[in-house]
Amino acid sequence: MRVTFALAALAAAASAIPTELRERQDGQNSKPCPKKPLVTAEKLKEDITIKKLVKGAQQLEDFAYSYPARNRIMGGKAHEDTVNWLKKELESTSYYDVTLQPFSNYVMLNGTLNTFTIGGRAINSTIFEYSNSTAGLVTAPVVVVSNLGCAASDYPAAVAGSIVLISRGSCEFGLKSALAGGAGAVAAIIYNNAPGSISATLGPPPRPEGSYVATVSLLQAEGLALVAQIQGGANVTASLDVLTDVQVITTNNVLATSKCGDKSNQLWLGAHTDSVGAGPGINDDGSGTVGILNVAKSLAKYNVKNAVSFGFWSGEESGLLGSTYFVESLSPEAALKIRAYLNFDMIASPNYVHQIYDGDGSAYGLSGPAGSADIEAFFEGYFKDLNIPSNATEFNGRSDYGPFLDANIPAGGTTTGADEIKTVAEQAIWGGVAGEILDQNYHQAADNVTNLNQDAWLLHSRGIAAAVAHYATSWEGFPVRTPVGNGTAKRSVRTEVRKGVQGAKRSIKLL
Ligand SMILES: *[C@@H]1O[C@H](CO)[C@@H](O)[C@H](O)[C@H]1NC(C)=O
Ligand SMILES: *[C@@H]1O[C@H](CO)[C@@H](O)[C@H](O)[C@H]1NC(C)=O
Ligand SMILES: *[C@@H]1O[C@H](CO)[C@@H](O)[C@H](O)[C@H]1NC(C)=O
Ligand SMILES: *[C@@H]1O[C@H](CO)[C@@H](O)[C@H](O)[C@H]1NC(C)=O
Ligand SMILES: *[C@@H]1O[C@H](CO)[C@@H](O)[C@H](O)[C@H]1NC(C)=O
Ligand SMILES: *[C@@H]1O[C@H](CO)[C@@H](O)[C@H](O)[C@H]1NC(C)=O
Ligand SMILES: *[C@@H]1O[C@H](CO)[C@@H](O)[C@H](O)[C@H]1NC(C)=O
Ligand SMILES: [Zn+2]
Repeated sequence: MRVTFALAALAAAASAIPTELRERQDGQNSKPCPKKPLVTAEKLKEDITIKKLVKGAQQLEDFAYSYPARNRIMGGKAHEDTVNWLKKELESTSYYDVTLQPFSNYVMLNGTLNTFTIGGRAINSTIFEYSNSTAGLVTAPVVVVSNLGCAASDYPAAVAGSIVLISRGSCEFGLKSALAGGAGAVAAIIYNNAPGSISATLGPPPRPEGSYVATVSLLQAEGLALVAQIQGGANVTASLDVLTDVQVITTNNVLATSKCGDKSNQLWLGAHTDSVGAGPGINDDGSGTVGILNVAKSLAKYNVKNAVSFGFWSGEESGLLGSTYFVESLSPEAALKIRAYLNFDMIASPNYVHQIYDGDGSAYGLSGPAGSADIEAFFEGYFKDLNIPSNATEFNGRSDYGPFLDANIPAGGTTTGADEIKTVAEQAIWGGVAGEILDQNYHQAADNVTNLNQDAWLLHSRGIAAAVAHYATSWEGFPVRTPVGNGTAKRSVRTEVRKGVQGAKRSIKLL
């Protein structure tokens, strides 16, 4: 009786909703939903506690601190531990289909500047990401290139066997290093074109212009003084000993999709699993990783109408590699089944602000694909209901939502801030310290469990829960997806903004 009744009810529902019938016939929605109550925001939020969040963060920190590198850099052991742990945690719910999605890329696992002297004087410098090593200690004359070193013709014959001196500007650091390598230089010094030191990347090799040489930075004033000295006829010699460990590694995204729910109308959420080399990356992005993981685990107690998927991306810090790989691996049909993507990168910043991606473009003029404004409005409502002020943050694609925007998938999310300086107005609203960056430990060793803001973290994690409960139960009023091809103009503007500034997020500069 029961079975017959259920089938009859199913048939009736299917003829009323042809889309669902089609999915069932395709076998895309074949798994019966578990006999669990439909998720509600109240229950899901309640289930997220600071105790559970901190426990997860502690696990990630423990992974990092079990190895000498004390980080969770893509390709490192602690990152692999993170990936395997996430997979196990998700599998233990039996609620998701969990897969690892491998991809390969270059990574600089370690870089040490043993010696850098110019004219015998020790120099304070940084190594560019993906820099090559010198063959031990090299001592060679310093040769100044013409112009900004963006063309092969800027590198005179004297460059061969020498250390080249190049100004920052106009083209990518990586192009300069490759042209220097192509011209036979033994190393390259790139001096800044503005005050401050340079912390930047050459971008992953290879490049057609040549192999990267060992590449280090110099302050603007020192660079200009050196150029003047050499152009005045002085012979200047530099000594350099750079040791880097650049390897091609295979790394994994962790993908988990609820067995239950309509897979033609999926909600995706994501956070990145890798840290930079400087530290364990517990706010960036352990906070987002553990935040969405806890929501995933709690969701397993409930039923959903729409499938909910979680992407734990590798290689964000090296240029949004994992999320880009994932999005580019989607067929057009599969991409259209993603109704929205929610990104959480840094949601426990010590000097926090409560920010929502500016999906409607009202604050920064860069809107997202249709639906992005609805997501922004949803989170605005979340904070408003709690009487907690929030503000927009630029929707520039500088985290893992970027590739989703490029594929015309509506996106959104919240963040508590990275290396932006807190304004006096922001301090008046959220407290903290004006004039300091929002996460004082951004990309540093101190980005660990001790230095998270737990109140902000719990608030944003419960925001994730609220959004999941909302979109997992209904897409009513949310714009339907249209085939890619619409919105191209907006997309290219944003892509240019992102690529013009950097490869990855915020401070990783390409030029
Ligand atoms: C990085 O390389 C240096 C020089 O070989 C070495 O002393 C250091 O232990 C390495 N660090 C890590 C984390 O592997
Ligand atoms: C070298 O530069 C770093 C970063 O800019 C700075 O913290 C440090 O004090 C500098 N050291 C010297 C000896 O100038
Ligand atoms: C380092 O230089 C060697 C010799 O030119 C080259 O074969 C290698 O590809 C370079 N490595 C990187 C990471 O560019
Ligand atoms: C610099 O070196 C070149 C070539 O070795 C030499 O001809 C020139 O006299 C030197 N200039 C000075 C100022 O020492
Ligand atoms: C909120 O964001 C808007 C748009 O960027 C900005 O003009 C305003 O100053 C921000 N408010 C605060 C308090 O930071
Ligand atoms: C976390 O970073 C702080 C620096 O802010 C440091 O004092 C502390 O020892 C670190 N925690 C661990 C467990 O190493
Ligand atoms: C954009 O979407 C509309 C319907 O929303 C459709 O008529 C049009 O053909 C689409 N354009 C492209 C280039 O796909
Ligand atoms: Zn991040």
